Amino acid sequence: GTLSPPSHSAVVVRSLLAVTSEERERILKDVEYNIFAFPAGLLTCDYLSDSGTSAMTDVQWAALMRGDESYGRNWGYYCLLDTFRDIFERGNSPQYAFQGIITGMIDSEYYRTKLLVSSHDGFVNGGPHQLERPNFFIVPQGRCAETLLFSTMSSMITEGAVEGAKVKPAIISNGFFDTTGANAAVAGFELQTFTQPGLSDAFPLHLIGKKNFFKGNLDVAAAEAYMDAHPGQVVMILTTITNNWAAAQPVSMANIRTTAALAKRKDIPFFFDACRFAENAFFIHEYEEGYADKSIAEIVQEMFSYIEGFTISLKKDGLSNMGGVLCFKDKGMFAQTYEGIGLRLKERQILCYGNDSYGGMSGRDLMTAVTGLYEVTKKTYLQNRIGQVQSFAQKLLANGIAVLSPPGGHAVYLEMDEFFVGCDRKPDDFASVGFTLELIKDFGIRAAEAGPFGWEWDKKSPEERKKIPNLVRFAVPRHVMSEEHIDYTVAAIKDLHDRRHKIPNVVITRGKDMRLRHFSSGLQP
Ligand code: F0G
Repeated sequence: GTLSPPSHSAVVVRSLLAVTSEERERILKDVEYNIFAFPAGLLTCDYLSDSGTSAMTDVQWAALMRGDESYGRNWGYYCLLDTFRDIFERGNSPQYAFQGIITGMIDSEYYRTKLLVSSHDGFVNGGPHQLERPNFFIVPQGRCAETLLFSTMSSMITEGAVEGAKVKPAIISNGFFDTTGANAAVAGFELQTFTQPGLSDAFPLHLIGKKNFFKGNLDVAAAEAYMDAHPGQVVMILTTITNNWAAAQPVSMANIRTTAALAKRKDIPFFFDACRFAENAFFIHEYEEGYADKSIAEIVQEMFSYIEGFTISLKKDGLSNMGGVLCFKDKGMFAQTYEGIGLRLKERQILCYGNDSYGGMSGRDLMTAVTGLYEVTKKTYLQNRIGQVQSFAQKLLANGIAVLSPPGGHAVYLEMDEFFVGCDRKPDDFASVGFTLELIKDFGIRAAEAGPFGWEWDKKSPEERKKIPNLVRFAVPRHVMSEEHIDYTVAAIKDLHDRRHKIPNVVITRGKDMRLRHFSSGLQP
């Protein structure tokens, strides 16, 4: 094949501590064997999350210096509005904004014209000065956008402010991320997950990098059958791109289009959980027929043309360390169905996060997200990013370790039933958690179980249990890992695989019934 050259070089370096296995073992005991509570500074490679863990580019650091910390309508607010228009509506290329952010500064003619923009109909306010129908909400991170959206929708349904909506309403998704599902459930929604079947089906390994079945897709037929059987109950379809519940697998444009048509037929809004929109766009570009000649910017624009609104954590494909947004079409069917929701959302936003133009973020962080959103849609960046995850998976496979294939966008997932082959482990032995503990203790590598423990196998019905895969996730932070990190990790996993019979099972000693228990429960190998 063709060689793709490196897309970037490192200009800042952080040294790591040398720590012994005994030292890590002592601290593991102190934190009740909860990997979320293990100090990052004692690790060599941290694959806990790709969220907020990105190394920023020099352009982002430069933009940070242009942060404006004004209380009312800081500069970053206008930049962010404009960026969202560029990326999600206009399909503009990266060059467009850099011209403004880096060369056109606060005192320039370029920004003067931006400030004097007036009306607009889309995901961002009907003009930045508009107060009457707000539809763009800055928040500190993705889950705050989820809380705002679901709690406000729910209160309007309960009050009878939404025509025809039932009191135990349901949301359909291709896969809810854990906080997303928890936020919707706390707000009173029933969750219905319809992932296209076949997530763990064998994939011909020689086709990795050549083909993709978009295993993250919504099972549209199953979703429609559910809606037909429960008329009027489903109030929203939420598609997560990429599908973090389904091992970071992408969603195809065809699936997005079909889902939009279904939502339209049923007269309910279609939203994205858009955290990793650029990675998803890259998969469409590489693997979906008809998109090879389209730019990432054009693909993103088309994806977002099918939806009514979205939540996004800027900690992923915003390449930023903090930030989130909820927005919806100013004059779309969501805004019409939930008439007046913008002002209610704004009231909650101000109560929890502050004035609408910063929403719990510093002006500096807004600028890094603004710049990051353009950086992340560059094809050279995405090639390198998705390529690194793919090569990580291929190295594991070459060493006889089963990996969910093809690998998805932001993480590599080990297939733990295959990993423990011949060991006779039951789902509620939580042996995969035991594996993550050994990995921290012996090698200083942190990965997270995404299986029976994290998805609460022991609390689910037999029907729900069938849908829970047994995986361990290695989320790859953006711009952070070198080939050296990956090789060290592959060797460590192989070593543990060789002595898999000795990996301990794990019991939950405290906090079994807490929501999102993986963050706070106590364990014992
Ligand atoms: N939606 C998806 C698909 C996510 O992956 C996440 C976070 C969120 C929403 C919530 O965003 O963290 O900014 O509040 N995922 C991280 C992860 C934590 O490790 O996968 P947040």
